[in-house]
Amino acid sequence: MERSLVLVKPDAMERGLAGAILARLQGDGLKLTALRMLHMDMALAGRHYAIHKDKPFFKDLVDYITSMPIVAAVFSGEGAVERIRKAMGATDPARAAPGTIRQQYGLDIQRNSTHASDSPENAEKEIAIFFKKGEIFE
Ligand code: CMP
Repeated sequence: MERSLVLVKPDAMERGLAGAILARLQGDGLKLTALRMLHMDMALAGRHYAIHKDKPFFKDLVDYITSMPIVAAVFSGEGAVERIRKAMGATDPARAAPGTIRQQYGLDIQRNSTHASDSPENAEKEIAIFFKKGEIFE
């Protein structure tokens, strides 16, 4: 079964939206198979966002994602990666389609409420950063 890593980011945590975002994905028929609340440190943020380390927004992104506890989850299902990306909408909430999570909740391109894996390969790498095998319940 395909899996994706989902993060509920600080802007959504601050507004009490973790439950609504998880419920929305469950309502779309995706299965919640792992769940954790954690305060990411610089090292974890650097690993998770390694692909963006040369981008001009990297430092701000790490400062933001480490600013308060977040929720990390694994969702499983057929075509989970693409289904979750669709449900979330474009990275920039201003460009996200109506009815998507980021259109509904996102504030700006950085404070876009959620992260989701962009491919099944990256999903497996990202999941391994946040969860041990025994913490995922297929
Ligand atoms: P995410 O899906 O978590 O992946 C990388 C994150 O970097 C992205 O969501 C945004 O939070 C952030 N990001 C992407 N592009 C920009 C940008 N141009 N300026 C600021 N932050 C960005």
